[in-house]
Amino acid sequence: MKFLNDNLVRICSILSDLNFHDGESIGAKLNVTRSSVWKSIKKLKEYGVDIISVKNKGYCLHDSLLLIDKEKIIKDIANPNLNIDMFESIDSTNNYLKQSISSAKRRIAISECQINGRGRMGRTWHSPFGKNIYLSYSYLFDKDISQLHGLSLVVGIAVISAIKEIGIESDLLKLKWPNDGVYMGQKFMGNLVELISENHGYTKAIIGIGINVNMNDDSIEINQEWTSLRKITNKNIDRTNLCISLIHNLNYCLEQFEKYGLNYFNNQWLELDGLKGLNISLNNNQINGTAHGIDQLGNLLVKLDNNMVKSFSSGEVTFSKNVFF
Ligand code: BTN
Repeated sequence: MKFLNDNLVRICSILSDLNFHDGESIGAKLNVTRSSVWKSIKKLKEYGVDIISVKNKGYCLHDSLLLIDKEKIIKDIANPNLNIDMFESIDSTNNYLKQSISSAKRRIAISECQINGRGRMGRTWHSPFGKNIYLSYSYLFDKDISQLHGLSLVVGIAVISAIKEIGIESDLLKLKWPNDGVYMGQKFMGNLVELISENHGYTKAIIGIGINVNMNDDSIEINQEWTSLRKITNKNIDRTNLCISLIHNLNYCLEQFEKYGLNYFNNQWLELDGLKGLNISLNNNQINGTAHGIDQLGNLLVKLDNNMVKSFSSGEVTFSKNVFF
């Protein structure tokens, strides 16, 4: 686990004009030696960043890379009670918040990469350096664990609102019950909510969010259809702005959920439900039917072939990709 070194942020920012900069001039800007610049460049290369080094010319980035700027986030959020830990590398931001002992109402961990990013059902979450958002939010609910049904749906709503707020307005950004963000059937976001019962009826929710932001390389092997915000928009997205928008939206949605429950979000879910009316299969074709929205607890309603509507509290949904074209 390594906290993010400010020199890496500043070097990437200097190189992001995609011109050559020599070690000496970078060092002068950062007030460090040439050899310290060299060490930072070496580290960035080890993280997989494509930096070209040419003798007598210096260093040049192949593709613009702005690292997440913690100071900008803190300034914008302006909440001295919200602690944000920012890492260049960590095993998993969810594990970090789960293991740290704290009675704070809210805590956030963000990392530029994860060695052991975790997805649902024991899967791995692909977490390369500097490309995406890996953010975990620990929120202490004044509620028993049994009152938190539907939390992952609310988190999905917060993520889509955050993405729209930074100007990506597409109506094709949808949620796939229970925790995926999809665009034309391809996944760009997943959330992993882990609940821990605390004393006196409180529950700590560790909400882990992975958003594919600038990941663009088709050679990446992920065993499900995926996309990223960059692929969708053809633009390099400012991850700091997206983090800020995400934190604001999570703050708002989690507070409303704590006060009013899932009901408060009914209309938003109706609007974003990407499964509505689709022929779906649940758990490897064990159940087949038509998706029929959710019930009050956030369970998926499925109209079965015999016309009965049944609810499901968990599971893995599949559908034919062709329905999106
Ligand atoms: C899924 O769709 O399977 C859930 C993916 C959740 C990934 C995020 S990335 C930040 C946080 N840390 C983790 O190890 N996992 C979550």
